Amino acid sequence: MFKIQTLNNISVNGLERLPRENFEVASEIQNPDAILVRSADMHKLDIPGSVKAIGRAGAGTNNIPVAQMSKRGVPVFNAPGANANAVKELVLASMLMASRNLAQSLDFVRKLDGDDKAMHEAVEAGKKKFVGMELPGRTLGVIGLGAIGVKVANAALELGMTVYGYDPAMTVQNAWQLNSGVRQAVSVDDLISKSQFLSVHVPLIDATRGLINAERIRLMKKQGVILNFARDAIVDQAAVIEALNAGQLYAYACDFPSNALKGHPRVIATPHLGASTGEAEDNCAVMVADQIREFLEQGTIRNS
Ligand code: MLT
Repeated sequence: MFKIQTLNNISVNGLERLPRENFEVASEIQNPDAILVRSADMHKLDIPGSVKAIGRAGAGTNNIPVAQMSKRGVPVFNAPGANANAVKELVLASMLMASRNLAQSLDFVRKLDGDDKAMHEAVEAGKKKFVGMELPGRTLGVIGLGAIGVKVANAALELGMTVYGYDPAMTVQNAWQLNSGVRQAVSVDDLISKSQFLSVHVPLIDATRGLINAERIRLMKKQGVILNFARDAIVDQAAVIEALNAGQLYAYACDFPSNALKGHPRVIATPHLGASTGEAEDNCAVMVADQIREFLEQGTIRNS
C-alpha cells in the first residue's frame, strides 16, 4: 500500500487514478511515499525522508525545492500543457478587458445611483472616459512559446493581431503547434520593441526574475499593455506602476494581486485563476496522478 499526501485540494478525477486497493490518499498522513501539491509553498516544509516522488498538479514547479529533491533522487512530476487552454482563455479575457476598459467601466456602472433616467444621464456623460481600442493590426509579443504561449499566439492571430514570438528553447513539438503566421523575433529586446501588447509565458527561474524591467518597458510601443499570467516576480511591479502613471503603459493585467498594484485603476489583477477551471484541474490532477502511480508501481518516469 502506497501512502499519498495531498497538500492542496486535488481534483477527484485525478485521485480516482490511484486505486484504493493500492493507495491511501489523505491530507494528513505519516511517512508518505509521495506528495501531490498544487500551489502550496513547499520550500519551508520539512519534506519527510519517506517521500519518493512529488507531483505538481500544474505547469510551474517554483513552489517546490526541485534542486534539493534532485539531490535526494526524488523526481518532481508536473503537468505541462494540461491547463494551457484555461490560461489562454484568461489571458484573452484580460487582454479584452484592458483594451475595452472593462474593469473601470464595470466599476462605474456598479457605483451608479438614482432612478433609471438619472442612470441614463450619468452613462451618457460618463462613457467618454471608457473609449477603448480594437485589436486587429495591433502587435502582440509572446515571450515563451511553450504550451500556453503557443496557444495565446495562435489565438491572437485569429483576433487579427500581428503576433511575434520569442523562445530560444522552443521544442520541436511546440514549433509544430505554432501557426505559421506567428513571426519570430531574434531576442527578448527585439520582441519587446515591436510590441504594444506583451504576454509573458516563461517559468520563474533565476534568468527570468525581473525579466520585464523599467528599461524593457520603455522599449515597448506607447500605450502598451503587459499581460503576466506566468509568475509575479518575472515583471518588476514598481516599474509597471511608474510606466502606468507616466502614460507609457496603458494597462497591466496579471494573475497575482499585491499591495504595490492594489487600487491602481489601470491594473487588472485576478487571484491566481489561470488554471482554475474544472477541466484544467481535472487534466492536471489526472496527469500527475498517473505519473505518480506509474513511478511508484513500476518505477517508470514519464513527464507528459
Ligand atoms: C501552473 O503553474 O500551471 C499554475 O500555477 C497551476 C495552478 O494554478 O495551480
